[in-house]
Amino acid sequence: MKNIFCVSHPLCDHHLTELRERSTRPSDFRAIASRLTSFLALESTSILTTSECPIETPVAGMVGAKVKERIGVFPILRAGLAMVDPMLDVIPDAQVFHLGMYRDEETATPVEYYNKLAEFDPVEIGFILDPMLATGGSIELTISVLKRWGVTRISVLSLISSKEGIERLSKLHPDVRFHTCAIDSVLNSKKYIVPGLGDAGDRLFNTL
Ligand code: PRP
Ligand code: URA
Repeated sequence: MKNIFCVSHPLCDHHLTELRERSTRPSDFRAIASRLTSFLALESTSILTTSECPIETPVAGMVGAKVKERIGVFPILRAGLAMVDPMLDVIPDAQVFHLGMYRDEETATPVEYYNKLAEFDPVEIGFILDPMLATGGSIELTISVLKRWGVTRISVLSLISSKEGIERLSKLHPDVRFHTCAIDSVLNSKKYIVPGLGDAGDRLFNTL
């Protein structure tokens, strides 16, 4: 599909394998999640535009380039927090807006519990961060929240996506770009991604 971008890189496969492994400890899990997000951060920000910027190097004058857009980064709590720092490493001036959402354990539908967007003006481009896109419900709700707020250019960054979730969302929102490190084939009866990596929030924050 035109708006789905799955990273193809041997190092990405290597780190993802370590991330999925059940014996990986939370401290390593956080470091690997951050490393993988760096791949997505570089790839997804290639759509940013620049304006000319005259500067003086110690040797000569030249016309450089500076990013134009006001950028927002939207980590979905809790697990999206692990992706914030690597994103800010490449776009240090981005604004970070936390969105609180959890999946109801019985119904697997998202419940929103934190959102302060109304206090700010909408950004020009938004990057949604969540390591897991399973049914896609949490990201679907986040996309509608951002669109309602006024964001017209949206990209989603997830480490692992389910095939059915990402394909459903990409059809529902053909204007949104989806970047992921892997697309896994199925969801189980509890709507967990298989093979996936289990519960991302619990593995990140040692609450298993
Ligand atoms: C996880 C994950 C996503 C959501 C994905 O969060 O981080 O936000 O589930 O599932 P979906 O695509 O089916 O909506 P969870 O609800 O476990 O919340 P937590 O991060 O607070 O543990
Ligand atoms: N949330 C997770 O953390 N993992 C899954 O596989 C599905 C939802």
